[in-house]
Amino acid sequence: MVKIVGIGGSLRPSSYSRMALHAAARRIEALGAEVEILDLQKMRLPFCNGEKNYPDYPDVQRLQETITSADGLVLATPEYHGSVSGVLKNALDLMSFEQLSDKVVGLISVLGGQSNSNALNDLRVIMRWVHAWVIPEQIAIGQAWKAFDSEGKLLDENLSQRFDKFAQSLVENTRKLRGVN
Ligand SMILES: Cc1cc2nc3c(=O)[nH]c(=O)nc-3n(C[C@H](O)[C@H](O)[C@H](O)COP(=O)(O)O)c2cc1C
Repeated sequence: MVKIVGIGGSLRPSSYSRMALHAAARRIEALGAEVEILDLQKMRLPFCNGEKNYPDYPDVQRLQETITSADGLVLATPEYHGSVSGVLKNALDLMSFEQLSDKVVGLISVLGGQSNSNALNDLRVIMRWVHAWVIPEQIAIGQAWKAFDSEGKLLDENLSQRFDKFAQSLVENTRKLRGVN
């Protein structure tokens, strides 16, 4: 079975990135894939210092092992100052080719302002660098504060359909590229 791991790049308690990640996860599971979400808010991770091992931070190993076990990833980032959040970038920096190469990746960004592709484009470059396969479908949620209802469901039907297509592409392409069902 295809395994997808989701990571959200915000530590904010009622984060819209996390809501977006869960909206994607529900659809991916409905397509018959397994999803595990790594909640960075609940993990204790150091800043990457370029070392390979972080003996005082067992969550680094947990992060690395969970990503190693995945066929694909969903990365959901807030747009911070026109780019990916430092929290997500640091989590990615704590990994390397060993964990990230050959993974199939779907990208989501949430913004306080108007929708754009800045953070998504930057994430695409980062993932290309580590030899991951980023699917062409991507989602940027502008004015995220009005995109979800109180239960975290998407209010806009067009956006909801975009999530359907995103999930479908991620699962289909992961099956093809990883040779798993
Ligand atoms: C440090 C910082 C930088 C931000 N930069 C941008 C930005 O460049 N463009 C934008 O539209 N919103 C920006 N925002 C707003 C966030 O993208 C928005 O609040 C988003 O919902 C945060 O994600 P979260 O809900 O997952 O925490 C910024 C917020 C913070 C805290």
